[in-house]
Amino acid sequence: MKRSTTRLDRFISQNSGFSMGEVRLLIAQRKILLDGIPAHCIRQPVTRFTRVVLDGIVLSDAQPVYLALHKPAGVVSATKDGKHPTVLDLVRHPRKHELHLAGRLDFNTTGLVLLTNDGAWSRRLSAPETKLPKVYEVSVTRPLSEEYVAAFRAGIYFAYEGMTTLPAQLEIRSARTCRLSLVEGKYHQVKRMFGHFGNKVLSLHRVSIGPVRLGELQAGTTRPLTRSELAQVAQR
Ligand code: URA
Repeated sequence: MKRSTTRLDRFISQNSGFSMGEVRLLIAQRKILLDGIPAHCIRQPVTRFTRVVLDGIVLSDAQPVYLALHKPAGVVSATKDGKHPTVLDLVRHPRKHELHLAGRLDFNTTGLVLLTNDGAWSRRLSAPETKLPKVYEVSVTRPLSEEYVAAFRAGIYFAYEGMTTLPAQLEIRSARTCRLSLVEGKYHQVKRMFGHFGNKVLSLHRVSIGPVRLGELQAGTTRPLTRSELAQVAQR
């Protein structure tokens, strides 16, 4: 989704009968409200989520949507698929067709995925620089050891991309189960990291993304992100 920030004078001229040159006067007359506050400058940015009111007429009022979904196994992380149910099929929301995924999970991976119509937000969330930890509960076929902890902390070389994974924290819970925290999301990253040791992932479940936790959210259902979760993401 493209980032749509427009200057106020351009936005007004594109969405009303006024010219760009007339916008200064409208501002002086306090006839333009941006998110309820009188505009003060022709260069103020207008995004697709700014509520713009001109002389009592609403010109733009798009609402951002941020949802957490508990993805069950057997569901595709896509908005369309010819064969299998998609995460979007699980969403009950009037604006569901505007939504896209901020990060995917494999077909049989379960747990937290985030959906939004705010492209700038999802891009920032997924950028490695944002360093939002994504935490997974993992079970594997062969016993784990401290060797994995050290190797994941140092980074695993992925020959296909010619890169080394960023430091990851592994907490061994039992012989074959662990919690893994990553700040990036390369293709099949978790499976490939265990694959480095010839160890196959049996189950993979994402329990959190930064401040957003799956908690008690039932499989197949969604909830809106809270103000506090959104504020914590914005601070990164
Ligand atoms: N890593 C994987 O290998 N699969 C997922 O679904 C998520 C992370």
